[in-house]
Amino acid sequence: MKHRVFSGARPTGRQHLGNYLGALQNWVNMQDDYDCVYCIVDIHALTTLEDTSSLQKDIYEMTLDWLAAGLDPKKSILFVQSHVPEVMVLHTLLSMVTPLGWLLRVPTFKEKAKIQPQNVNYGLVGYPVLQTADIVIYKAEFVPVGEDQLPHLELAREIARRFNNLFGDTFPEPQAKLTLFPSILGLDGKEKMSKQLKNDIEIALSPEDTIKRVMTAVTDPARQYRSDPGHPEICNIYRLQGYFNPSQVDALADQCRSAKIGCVDCKMLLAQKINSNLEPFRERRAAFAAKPQYIKDVLADGAQRAQAIASETLSEVKQKMGLI
Ligand code: TYM
Repeated sequence: MKHRVFSGARPTGRQHLGNYLGALQNWVNMQDDYDCVYCIVDIHALTTLEDTSSLQKDIYEMTLDWLAAGLDPKKSILFVQSHVPEVMVLHTLLSMVTPLGWLLRVPTFKEKAKIQPQNVNYGLVGYPVLQTADIVIYKAEFVPVGEDQLPHLELAREIARRFNNLFGDTFPEPQAKLTLFPSILGLDGKEKMSKQLKNDIEIALSPEDTIKRVMTAVTDPARQYRSDPGHPEICNIYRLQGYFNPSQVDALADQCRSAKIGCVDCKMLLAQKINSNLEPFRERRAAFAAKPQYIKDVLADGAQRAQAIASETLSEVKQKMGLI
């Protein structure tokens, strides 16, 4: 039997290079060797969204990105979190074995509380418990994610361990799987690439808009004049060249250090490489966008398959906790 993989993403709409390089690439690559379940976590999205009017459109846009990137509904289960409500029941049950102190220490909780001090809601504190429920309800052993999710995975293992100790062996302790690019910085060159911080490059942008976005990126801040030698090791654009332009990356480092290439030319080269790399993705995306009913069918079928697994685990948990 294949080992099970679970991962999820918040429906922030179109995916950016951080999601793509940090997670989605692994999701696609794992499909042949693992039994994969991928989830659009709409309930998690509600922890940061005050205006939910674009939620359905964002779910649709994200599904298009996933399919165009190579997720195959014949191989993997693709579904929307709220369509399988069993996970919310498991979230409540797991909340009973999760000390509040563990949750208040999670770095993402502290970050979000800083970004949205007007909306430090109860769901935000319980976010990692719901994330744990997402994973363990499918008894997943591996979770392909970007580096920012590691604290959540650590907590998921602790919650699973605690449940197993209290009620008997039930859940595997899930392990994270990182890509070679587990942390992509945003265009500001400081914070991680993120929709909320508006420092992202969407993979579905047109070639022209991709060039415009890349040209706004911050490079080596010490390099003020074209003749200043650069420091590729601290430059986010250089890191992205490593993925999109691997054959030229060493030569570019030398040219940057000796000021033979300027940041503008380096960024233009990167933008062109991103565009040529993503051209097949963008063509597939346009083809999927012409079939909106197919997208709905994929998610409905995924929810049905996911629910079959989730309801079985939930019954087992209820039994072990003495609820039935
Ligand atoms: P989310 O929606 O923020 O991101 C989805 C995936 O993309 C990765 N990622 C990045 N990787 C590298 N560099 C970046 N700048 C970058 N930005 C995002 C994330 O690490 C993630 O893998 N809490 C999760 C969603 C979730 C989940 C789960 C994940 C809910 N339940 C269960 C795994 C398992 C989140 O907010 O991801």
